[in-house]
Amino acid sequence: MTLVRIEKGDEDLSFREIQAGTIYSRILRDPLDNKITYELIEPQIDQKLDPIYRSYVRDFMNGGDRKPFDNTPDLLKGKGRKSSSPELQFTPLDLEILRYYVRRDTLKYGKITGLLLDPDVEDISCEGSNKHIYVFTKEFGYIPTNVVFKDDEDLNFFIRKIIQDSGKNISIADPIIDSTLPDGSRIQASIGNYVTASGPAFSIRKFRKEPFTPLDLIRLGTASTEIFAYLWVCIEYGSNMIVTGGTASGKTVMLNSILLFIPQNLKIITIEDTRELRLPHENWLSLISREGTGKNDPESGKRIGEIDMFDLLTASLRHRPNYIVIGEVRGREAFTIFQAMSTGRYGLATFHAEDIGTLIHRLEAKPINIPRSLIGSLDAAIVMGNFVFKGETRRRVKAISEVMAVDSHHGDMTVNNVYSINSDDTFRSSGFSYILEKIGSRYGIPVSVMERDVRIRKNILESMIRQNKVSYKEFTSMIFSFYHDRDAVIDAFQAEK
Ligand SMILES: Nc1ncnc2c1ncn2[C@@H]1O[C@H](COP(=O)(O)OP(=O)(O)OP(=O)(O)O)[C@@H](O)[C@H]1O
Ligand SMILES: [Mg+2]
Repeated sequence: MTLVRIEKGDEDLSFREIQAGTIYSRILRDPLDNKITYELIEPQIDQKLDPIYRSYVRDFMNGGDRKPFDNTPDLLKGKGRKSSSPELQFTPLDLEILRYYVRRDTLKYGKITGLLLDPDVEDISCEGSNKHIYVFTKEFGYIPTNVVFKDDEDLNFFIRKIIQDSGKNISIADPIIDSTLPDGSRIQASIGNYVTASGPAFSIRKFRKEPFTPLDLIRLGTASTEIFAYLWVCIEYGSNMIVTGGTASGKTVMLNSILLFIPQNLKIITIEDTRELRLPHENWLSLISREGTGKNDPESGKRIGEIDMFDLLTASLRHRPNYIVIGEVRGREAFTIFQAMSTGRYGLATFHAEDIGTLIHRLEAKPINIPRSLIGSLDAAIVMGNFVFKGETRRRVKAISEVMAVDSHHGDMTVNNVYSINSDDTFRSSGFSYILEKIGSRYGIPVSVMERDVRIRKNILESMIRQNKVSYKEFTSMIFSFYHDRDAVIDAFQAEK
């Protein structure tokens, strides 16, 4: 049955049927102030039906009335008798609308179900009740929606339910939580007023089947084509790199995009707490840590059944990977990855630090305690940052800092910012790269040839964008062909040699 009848309007920037006949979305620009907003369109529920479905959903959640929700006439009989006058009449459309809402709020994700189903929406963030929920779309960035949780009770209730569905619990004792929803999206949520000044809040990063490629990031302005061409060379020949930056600065996205440069014949192991990384390589092994249950064991400091990143990393070294990738380095696994990097494996990871100074400081300080002599096996840090530009947040590569030398006597460290961002949102180069020089001397290739190699790859990337060959598939197949027969790829994209 069609519950909503709607068509694209002239003023819509985008219009999408999310679920035929029931959920639609449109993105509009206000002609007065040019503000862009996202409107989620669902069936209209009127005052007669609203209290019925609400009380049913509450009962259902409290475990009281767990009758099959599909049996709406039953539901209406029960509720209708108790709460309304006997002459209350329901049309078939009413019943269908009730069924939609009951199902949405018990089996799905309540108010944000449509946002989660909309393939254009990548992030959903709710800063509190009585505030518009924001969504992130590739085309329009962060924009407000018409979805609002009316008060803290409403929002707390929703957060408890969605976290429970993900198999965890959120409570006053444990008011902030990171979890994975059944559809693979990642959620961070907090309840009450204990953590966030504004009360309950949550943010969701939707599961993305296809990660951002370097071409996507170039088009978003995250870094220049030359920067990605340089990273491509570094990754092909083998480099140890950490993507660093603040919360939600785009570290994981950046890491995933450069992983796409790894030659397909190399063995890659990724280690994560929540599954975020995605690779097209056949020789890829993805390991996910597991939380334990019960209290910490006094001897190991772990819970029963817990397998942390350190355990996974130690085990993975036996597989002799060429590249070891750690989703986010936090604890004792850091030491092991640095050891692995110093013994011929290549390591890539993200780490939470605002700049290279803070990164090195945190790596050396407790509890990680990496000696400076080992820090020298890090080739470079890719520093990510959020910039607000014309009222919009933009994620950018702030700098690529190469670790040039570590003086083990004095402990001094020399860093070359091979690339850094200018205040006008362009990028500058320091004019030379220590890593390219190092790779060149390792393989006996003159630096000028290494630099030409960067230029060739820059031309290929530019040419793909010019020809609008920017899909995930086109990008990964170009990389695979490049390692198979690079001249053919150079010719195909008419890149100058
Ligand atoms: N370069 C980018 N341009 C635009 N949006 C981006 C970019 N990188 C990431 N995003 C958006 O920002 C969100 C956060 O990105 P990401 O998960 O990579 O950040 P993070 O720094 O790893 O966060 P955390 O600190 O939580 O680990 C993503 O869901 C994505 O939609
Ligand atoms: Mg991350």
